[in-house]
Amino acid sequence: MKIISGPKSLMLSTRLSEIMDIPLAHTEYKRFPDGEAYVRIHENLDKEDVIFIQNTHPDQNIIEYFLTLDAIRQYNVKSITSVIPYFGYARQDKRFNEGEPVSAKTLAKHLSMDVDKIITVNLHNPEILNWFSVPSYEIRAEKLLAKYFEKFNPDIIVSPDKGSVERAKLLSELINRPYISFEKRRLDAEHVEIYTGDIDVSNKTVAIIDDMISTGGTIATASNVLKNMGAAKIVVGCVHGLFVGNALNRLQATVDVLFSTDTIENEKSVVTVADEISKTIRNS
Ligand code: R5P
Repeated sequence: MKIISGPKSLMLSTRLSEIMDIPLAHTEYKRFPDGEAYVRIHENLDKEDVIFIQNTHPDQNIIEYFLTLDAIRQYNVKSITSVIPYFGYARQDKRFNEGEPVSAKTLAKHLSMDVDKIITVNLHNPEILNWFSVPSYEIRAEKLLAKYFEKFNPDIIVSPDKGSVERAKLLSELINRPYISFEKRRLDAEHVEIYTGDIDVSNKTVAIIDDMISTGGTIATASNVLKNMGAAKIVVGCVHGLFVGNALNRLQATVDVLFSTDTIENEKSVVTVADEISKTIRNS
């Protein structure tokens, strides 16, 4: 077995390589002056089961995904397991308006070509799993996040919108704390309005859980509202920390503790999904 790590997934790939005791293959990724991707595999993969780890965000990663698979396929490999820790485009999981694509579906279809199996983590919509044309598996990171949340002994768990209620409920069961859900209205790509309902959070440590943080608009607004209501401490955990633009600065103002998994590698990736990926590879 060999692991091929996409250039942005080295932390996770190295952790997986150590846990599974499988070497990382020597690869080369660079960009031509015009921005096009260059990929090269520097070792023979004949007769190997290959695990390829690559996100589909941002868009450049999608090109690297297809080029790397073509490079792998020139060898007589036994199998290719594609690990997509963060499956981008999942939020466009339906045609919201006439004339739009179902981006998640078309991506799932094309990413399935040339691989034998797909493993991903917390899809924005679990139904996407049915759109891959090869056996596919979704790892859920809530239990891993729960262990980290527990360190801060939160009094209450908040779902920032209806979409995360099931996640907050699961966290509530795992760490035995009550949960509530806010309602969110999106104003634009970076701004939202939050409706809390009648709650008392004064002097409390509040845990907020979400599947992803992108611009930070959702969490910054929710934390702001909670702090204005007297919350003592805000602890935020998410699965996928995209943290686009100045999201981290924006969150720093009101969030006391912020963490994510290593599906997307950044300075907040303190929870690893490597063990779960290893178990899924071994059991599938
Ligand atoms: C929404 O459905 C998701 O669960 C996240 O709440 C959302 O994508 C976060 O985006 P942002 O950080 O840009 O508010």
